[in-house]
Amino acid sequence: MLIRSRRGWELPEAAATPEGVYHDRRALLKAAGLGLIAAGLPTLPAWAAAGPPADPSAARYPVPRNERYTLDRALSAERDVTTYNNFYEFGSHKGIWMAAQKLPVRPWTVAIDGMVEQPMNLDIDQLLDRMPLEERLYRHRCVEAWAMAVPWSGFPLKALVDMARPLGSAKYLTMQTFKDSKVASGQREFWYPWPYTEGLRLDEATNDLAFIATGLYGKPMPPQNGAPLRLVTPWKYGFKSVKSIVRFTFTDKRPRTFWDTVGPAEYGFWANVNPDIPHPRWSQKTERLLGSDERVPTQLYNGYADHVAHLYAGMEGERLYM
Ligand code: MTE
Repeated sequence: MLIRSRRGWELPEAAATPEGVYHDRRALLKAAGLGLIAAGLPTLPAWAAAGPPADPSAARYPVPRNERYTLDRALSAERDVTTYNNFYEFGSHKGIWMAAQKLPVRPWTVAIDGMVEQPMNLDIDQLLDRMPLEERLYRHRCVEAWAMAVPWSGFPLKALVDMARPLGSAKYLTMQTFKDSKVASGQREFWYPWPYTEGLRLDEATNDLAFIATGLYGKPMPPQNGAPLRLVTPWKYGFKSVKSIVRFTFTDKRPRTFWDTVGPAEYGFWANVNPDIPHPRWSQKTERLLGSDERVPTQLYNGYADHVAHLYAGMEGERLYM
């Protein structure tokens, strides 16, 4: 199907809503409580005045940092990371953080199925009990050429794969976001192939870098960043990092992914970061650091070549970098 609407993440940076437009969340909620929102500003929904329900996993954080993963740049400001987002389920612009508070993160059931010894459904808190939680500092590079550095909390995806015990015939792992257009109004945009789906080849999924994030900045994951479970693959463009996962399916077929379905000429399955392969409509040579105008050179595999380059040996004929 043709792409009918222009995607927000394809807007030039200058056309994106300025971050200053977004008020500090606490100040905004407090103002709502005191009835101080001036006429002319958007009215807050009823749930916002009370704030989102407390996340029962809060006591698990902060988790010990894994010092193996170091950064060559400063961490991004938490406020920037949590108020400048891509989450099309809640709108195709960067300011969806408040709309995303509607996402109910409990109860939350995760299905693990497909080519596994024993399919299972797990409650998110049971899953967190079984996984080795740690903190990792990773760079993140969006295909739109902005970048951030984030302290994610979570667990290696390999731990989940090992728990699932895939059959020898499984070659890929597909991951899917929830689907509920009552919660996520963006899912009423029928030309998108909901639910958002992503996938990795199994050797990518079990690579030491592949991570399932459950929190950031020493706290549970906020809804806008993909609560309660979100993939993080720092050597790939950010659209691979599927948010709010409800299903992990092991399969022997490469899955059709969300953006590869919407725009196959521009977005592919592999999506590895490479400054020398431009997007069809812009250069990938540099990236803007979130929260500033500074541009820095982009690195092959986003600087993680030592961890992942071997995964793609002998695949030179494939579209590895989009
Ligand atoms: N996951 C879902 N379900 N829906 C989305 O729209 N956007 C992707 C990815 N995961 C997206 C998603 C894109 S394009 C990026 S760059 C990252 O989430 C952004 O993550 P952030 O908002 O935490 O920075």
